[in-house]
Amino acid sequence: RAAMPQAPDLPATLDEARAAALGCRRCGLCEAATRTVWGEGPPDAGLMIVGEQPGDREDLEGRPFTGPAGQVLRAAIAEAGIDPAQTYLTNAVKHFKFVPRGRQRIHQTPTRDEIRHCRWWLGLELAFVRPRLTVALGASAALALTGAEGPLAPRRGEVETGLHAGPVLISWHPSYLLRQQDHLTREAARRDLVADLRRAMDLQS
Ligand code: URA
Repeated sequence: RAAMPQAPDLPATLDEARAAALGCRRCGLCEAATRTVWGEGPPDAGLMIVGEQPGDREDLEGRPFTGPAGQVLRAAIAEAGIDPAQTYLTNAVKHFKFVPRGRQRIHQTPTRDEIRHCRWWLGLELAFVRPRLTVALGASAALALTGAEGPLAPRRGEVETGLHAGPVLISWHPSYLLRQQDHLTREAARRDLVADLRRAMDLQS
């Protein structure tokens, strides 16, 4: 029987997908960003956690969730009793989107189109890792994973069906916690995030 024709640019493994993503030019974000920040974690992780995009620090270091929001997320992961070594961390968008302001680079929310273009890579991560459950942190990740837009508050804590047909638990983005001036609001959001991660852990075990 004739072999199935393979699309020449379709990666056959997670490593191949990563290598291809390093040279991605699917949208304009690669122009200003330093590098592609690919996901990190075991290729057979049961739990995948998806953020929005790398921040300033992640862009420089080339690893997801190493900056201030990453510290918040990693602390919440630990508090939820999740083994980070068993978890795949990635982002909806693989390049840092920013505007320069003086010597700083200020985060910009990716557009719907940028999220759609980058879904190619997120789709490959989902296809190769095949997590039992995915957590969407914030509205950009929720859009990338489910295709649905809208305010996050009514969706947070809910399990939705992803475009990849797997379950997606929606939670706050750790940057949302950092933006809260009011201590009590911030603490409530942090507790929500930890509770969601704990539930995600239970659902995928
Ligand atoms: N925020 C994200 O969504 N992802 C990162 O990797 C860092 C900050």
